[in-house]
Amino acid sequence: MTEHFFPADELLLYSVIDWSYDRILAGGNPMTGARPASDLEAELANAISPEGIGGRAALEHWADTIIPATRAMGDPMNLAYIPAAPTAAALTFDLAVSSAQIMGGHWETGAGAIAAENQTLRWLAELAGFPAEAGGAFVSGGTVGNLSALVAARHAAAQKRDTRPARWAIAASRAVHSSIDNAARIMDVDVLWVDGDAEGRMSGEALEAAFAAHPGLADGVFAVVANVGATNAGIVDHLDSVADFCGRNDVWLHIDGAYGLAAMASARVRAQLTGLERADSFVVDPHKWLFAPYDCCALVYRDPVQSASAHSQHAGYLEQVDREAWNPSDHAIHLSRRVRGLPLWFSLATYGTDHYAGAIEKALSTTREVVEGIRASDHLELVMEPDLSVVLFRRPGGSEEQKTEWSEATADQGIALIVPTRWHDELMFRMCFVNPRTRSDRVLLVLDTMA
Ligand SMILES: Cc1ncc(COP(=O)(O)O)c(C=O)c1O
Repeated sequence: MTEHFFPADELLLYSVIDWSYDRILAGGNPMTGARPASDLEAELANAISPEGIGGRAALEHWADTIIPATRAMGDPMNLAYIPAAPTAAALTFDLAVSSAQIMGGHWETGAGAIAAENQTLRWLAELAGFPAEAGGAFVSGGTVGNLSALVAARHAAAQKRDTRPARWAIAASRAVHSSIDNAARIMDVDVLWVDGDAEGRMSGEALEAAFAAHPGLADGVFAVVANVGATNAGIVDHLDSVADFCGRNDVWLHIDGAYGLAAMASARVRAQLTGLERADSFVVDPHKWLFAPYDCCALVYRDPVQSASAHSQHAGYLEQVDREAWNPSDHAIHLSRRVRGLPLWFSLATYGTDHYAGAIEKALSTTREVVEGIRASDHLELVMEPDLSVVLFRRPGGSEEQKTEWSEATADQGIALIVPTRWHDELMFRMCFVNPRTRSDRVLLVLDTMA
């Protein structure tokens, strides 16, 4: 038995890098996926043993059992949920980030990497129109980003108030992502549900009405959460009037743009997001529509002094941490962290921000072409004009089972992944476009098979 893990087995290193190289270039089958846990457990049964099975055998498990039971999210015909479209530069650089073994929680251990992450956050903050002192951290996903922002918002409200409300509350529309409800449960706060317009968009007027109708709950509201790209229908709330309301009532405005806020990289879309610049915090997930690998959420605060006050951790063994320096651990629910913003930084540096704007515009123009095709079709009906790149449509007639069967058969044949959703109690079809390589003509050919 060897005492140590080193020296490294060079052949094994090459094999793993070789596998990654092929996968980055060739992509993977997007339609494959889950298998019964008992089958997978049986196939992997001998993998972990006192003696070890050796890297070559472990890699065989990876290639033969593990990978075929996963779905590659970056395929151009994967249009389900929120897909991904990581660039080759970002994927490759993820290998380098792991290899560098950087602890990105504190400036002392990660200064160079944190500076590059902060440069990336600055790009996003500037697109949003936030002030120069804005900042934040990269966290694992929108769920942790939203929770961290809401914890900071409540902390800020508690510091401002002389008396505590009977119950704290978040105000949001029913279209918000399930992670907002989840955050409320974790924080033990209520949600003041605000009506949306016919398609679910929240406005300042609707907030006014909800506050007037529920004065008890309203008294404890410490944050309003607005959508830029709600997950199910892709809608964007009426940000300008929501920001007016928050300004008048001195309430923290958090923007959940986990999916849709990437579109602010397009100057055309940014011009339509008036009010965003008045928010107190936002999240956007680069693993969704900013062409980065999992897992990555950019969390940005207008005033990071407040987030640091809410999130900094103190302990004897952390006494030597330089609190004057920028420590990402101070701005979210985490301490040790990988510098997960770096694959995005590398990709942005490699291709340039114009390329990003162009790739986002491409997904938006694909969306418009598909919408036109659905409108022109005699067997499909568009449910609403997309605000961004989510398309809801129905195929009139047919049972729910038939819709699900069509979706499963189309996936099983390796053609496309288009999964139904429920919206306003109706099972209908939904597609989300984030990949600049998705071709509208191919998508429309697939939709023809619904006739
Ligand atoms: C609008 C929105 N917010 C939050 C989330 C949660 O993000 P994550 O899955 O990265 O935690 C999602 C995920 O789809 C989302 O679409």
